[in-house]
Amino acid sequence: MKSPEIYQSQFPAPTARNNGGGRRSSFSIASDAFIFFSGAVAALLLVWTFSTFSNHQPNPIPNFETRIPEPKSSVIDDVSCTGSSGGFNLQSDPIDPNFYDDPTFGYTLDKPIKNWDEKRREWFEKHPSFGSGSEERVLVISGSQSGPCSNPIGDHLLLRFFKNKVDYCRRHGYDIVYNNVLLHPQMHTYWAKIPSVRAAMLAHPEAEWIWWVDSDAAFTDMDFKLPLQRYKNHNFVVHGWPKLIYEKKSWTSLNAGVFLIRNSQWALEFMDVWSGMGPQTPNYEKWGEILRETCKDKFFPESDDQTGLVYLLLKEKEKWGNKIYVEGEYYFEGYWLEIVETLENITAKYNGIERKVRRLRRRHGEKVSDGYSALWEEYLKDAGFGKFSWRRPFITHFTGCQPCSGQHNQMYSGQSCWDAMQKVLNFADNQVLRNYGFVHRDLLDSASVSPLPFDYPA
Ligand SMILES: *[C@@H]1O[C@H](CO)[C@@H](O)[C@H](O)[C@H]1NC(C)=O
Repeated sequence: MKSPEIYQSQFPAPTARNNGGGRRSSFSIASDAFIFFSGAVAALLLVWTFSTFSNHQPNPIPNFETRIPEPKSSVIDDVSCTGSSGGFNLQSDPIDPNFYDDPTFGYTLDKPIKNWDEKRREWFEKHPSFGSGSEERVLVISGSQSGPCSNPIGDHLLLRFFKNKVDYCRRHGYDIVYNNVLLHPQMHTYWAKIPSVRAAMLAHPEAEWIWWVDSDAAFTDMDFKLPLQRYKNHNFVVHGWPKLIYEKKSWTSLNAGVFLIRNSQWALEFMDVWSGMGPQTPNYEKWGEILRETCKDKFFPESDDQTGLVYLLLKEKEKWGNKIYVEGEYYFEGYWLEIVETLENITAKYNGIERKVRRLRRRHGEKVSDGYSALWEEYLKDAGFGKFSWRRPFITHFTGCQPCSGQHNQMYSGQSCWDAMQKVLNFADNQVLRNYGFVHRDLLDSASVSPLPFDYPA
C-alpha cells in the first residue's frame, strides 16, 4: 500500500450526479479512501463557476503603488559583504534570551503559544535591520508530498509549478518556503498545510504575512501585487463569495487552497481552532458529521479544512469573521477551466497595448520590473478584474487536476489538465522570459523558445 500523498490539490473525481463542486486544491492524500469520496463532484461546481461565481463585480482594485524599499543606511551597507542581504543583518542574533530560548516554546500544535505579538515585537527590537518595510513583508509557502508522484509527469509538473512560484517571489522580493514533510503525522492531505504555516510563522517572525499557495496553483500575472492595504484590518484572506457562504452555506463557497494569514497571536489561535477539526483529534468523525450537517452540499464524510473554514465563518462569525476578508474581486485564485481559454485573447490585448506604447515595451533589468508594472496600470484601467476581465488572471488554480497523483476529476480528461498546465505555465513563463530576451511562441510547446527582436512587439 502506498503511503498517502500529501500536499497536493484534491478534487473529487466524479461519478457525480449533481452534487459536487470544484474542490479546491490543497494537500491531497491520494489514499484510496480519499479518492473515492472524490466521486460525486462536478455539476455544481460548474453551475456555480459559470453562473453564481461570476456575479461579483469587478471593482476598483488595489493599491498599485510601487513600493520602493527605503534607502539603506550606510551602517547597514557597511555590513553588506559580511552577511547582510537586502539591508538585513543576517548575522546578528543578540545573546540575551528571546522566545526561542524558552524550552517550553513549541513548534508543534500541542504546545499553544501565548503573547506571540509581544514576542515578535521584542524580536524586532533585537533585530532592527528587519524593521523597515516589515508591515508588507510576505513569505510564500507551498508544499507537496515527501515521495515521488504516481503520475509519471507529476514531479515534472510540480517542479514547474514551483519554478513559477520562485519566479514570482524573486520578482517581488518575497521569500519562499517549500515543505515536503508532514509536520504532524496525522494531519495529511489538505490538513497538512496548517502545521506548515504555523511552523513558517514561528521560523519567520520578520514576515508579517504568510501566504499559503497550493502546489497546483500558478501565478499568471507576474506584475500583480497583493493589495495589502485593503487587508490592513484583517488577519486572514481567502478567495470566496459571501453570498454562497452565508446564504447557500456551500462547502465550495470559498477555496482554502490559497490564503494569506497575518503572523499574529490571532492566527495561532485561529489555527488551533481550525485544526481542532482535523484527523489528529478524537473529534474528527464528529466534525465530519457536523460539517456535513452545516454544508449540505458536502458529499464526503471526512472533515476537511475548507468546509471547516466555512463552518467557522457561519457559526463563529463574531469570534473570527471580522478579521477574515473574503476576497472576491480579483483572481486571488481562479479556476483553471474558466481561465485557460482566455489566455490567448489576453495576450493579444497586452501585445496590442505594447505596440502602441513604447515605454511599456522598453527592455529593462528584471529587478526594476515593479516600476513597469505600475506603468501598466494606466493601461489596464478598463481591463476589470476576475472573470470577464482581460487583465491577466493573478493565480490560476488547477483544482481537480491532481498533477502529482494523476487522479484527476473525471469531468475532464487528464490530457486537458496537462495541456492546460503547459499553457498556463508557459503563459506565466513568457512574462519572466521577456526580461531574458526570449518567448515561448507556442504555449503548448514548453521546450521551444525564440529570441525576441529589439523593440518587440512593435
Ligand atoms: C477572443 O476574441 C475573439 C475576437 O474578439 C472573440 O470572438 C472570442 O470569443 C474571444 N475568445 C474568448 C475565449 O474570449
